[in-house]
Amino acid sequence: MPAGTELTTVDRVHGEGSFLFTATNSFDMDEEIIVVPCEDGDAGTDAATDGATGGAGVAAWINRCTHEAQRFDTGRGVPMRDGEIICPKHGSLFDACSGECDNGEAAGTTLPEVDVAVEDGAVYLVDDEYEFEHEGGIDADDGPSSTSHIGF
Ligand code: FES
Repeated sequence: MPAGTELTTVDRVHGEGSFLFTATNSFDMDEEIIVVPCEDGDAGTDAATDGATGGAGVAAWINRCTHEAQRFDTGRGVPMRDGEIICPKHGSLFDACSGECDNGEAAGTTLPEVDVAVEDGAVYLVDDEYEFEHEGGIDADDGPSSTSHIGF
């Protein structure tokens, strides 16, 4: 097993379209990170994959457009089309495997990558700069479930 936190499975990322989680970076600040489908063998691929997934892989990126601080996943999954991440603000398209953008307002930029690894179909966070906090966005533990520690 890779030395990292198990996040999810390749099947789930491909089935649901994306996976969002929150991690603490080396400056002790929370960052949202997205894991998106990426096929092994795609051009310029940075796919994390293994034999158990039949070539299906994933890649992970900071959940923020390089043009302005727009989140890709605002709580309803990452908007994607044909292997590209769509920025919901101005519509720039980023390659889900390489993180590169060659169009629109964000043209010429590349998303900051987060290292993940795949083993036996499970996805692990293996980036030294990030420590897993919880599934979902930064605010995901606000709301009704945050009162669940109250006993009756
Ligand atoms: S904020 Fe993403 S293209 Fe402008």
